Amino acid sequence: MLYISFGLIFAPVVFHYAVGLNSVCSFRIMALPGVKKDGREVKIYENADELSTDLADYVAELSEASVKERGVFAVALSGGSLISLMSKLCEAPYSKTVDWAKWYIFWADERVVAKNHADSNYKLAKDGLLSKVPFVPSHVHSINDTVSAEKAAEDYEFVIRQLVRTRVISVSDISDCPKFDLILLGMGPDGHVASLFPNHPVLEEKEEWVTFITDSPKPPPERITFTLPVINSASNVAVIVTGSSKAETVHLVIDDVEPDKPSLPAKMVQPTKGNLVWFLDKEAASKLDGSKFSQ
Ligand SMILES: *[C@@H]1O[C@H](CO)[C@@H](O)[C@H](O)[C@H]1NC(C)=O
Repeated sequence: MLYISFGLIFAPVVFHYAVGLNSVCSFRIMALPGVKKDGREVKIYENADELSTDLADYVAELSEASVKERGVFAVALSGGSLISLMSKLCEAPYSKTVDWAKWYIFWADERVVAKNHADSNYKLAKDGLLSKVPFVPSHVHSINDTVSAEKAAEDYEFVIRQLVRTRVISVSDISDCPKFDLILLGMGPDGHVASLFPNHPVLEEKEEWVTFITDSPKPPPERITFTLPVINSASNVAVIVTGSSKAETVHLVIDDVEPDKPSLPAKMVQPTKGNLVWFLDKEAASKLDGSKFSQ
């Protein structure tokens, strides 16, 4: 996997500011360094409710396009507030219109705990999403919670390899990496995404698809996580961030300030060929350069 630095490229990025269901106005800001040539989108919402509505629309559209093109939709979830922000997908019209039987569910990261543990991302998704719409149970690929972190990562990668072989998961045409139709991520105040934490050696992992850590700075310590090459091979990556505690990091990542400092993991999320969309509420966006919400 190559990480291409585009250096200081000045490219326009469209900021959408959704003020309601029907009125979306956008404004352009210039001079965002390091933006890939096909760009990325940053969407800013008045509140979590509007974000949630548009996120449901976005996921439903990708699902429809993927099912039409490939017959399936392979999506990776993570934990945190993401699942509750996806709640509108379980409501009308999506609950009826989305072809749930074609979904294959994975986790971009998971805590190595029992599936009924409060820290389990599987449990979070099961309670908030999987139990509400008709997924096919055999399409839900969670980790084996009875083995070590190392074995769980190895087993999970094996499962993914099988599904790449049968093209339930597509494959990247520039690396042998799986190409998920959609990877949904949150971001911590420290800039971590999935279980890729700042300055951690797993950020350098280029061979494995799924790896493990036993020293997460945020409990629980044992996690498995997709590696950056897998995240960056996806067709679509959405990073969903809300709240003022993340505003400074959102600014550092999206405005790409201090480019010589060691990269924040969220800044390393740069799909090689896929699309990257940031979904922010106005609190998370409040420190962005050029944002009408800037303080
Ligand atoms: C989990 O791993 C153990 C040990 O390898 C194995 O016996 C068990 O069948 C696995 N469970 C699942 C659900 O795959």
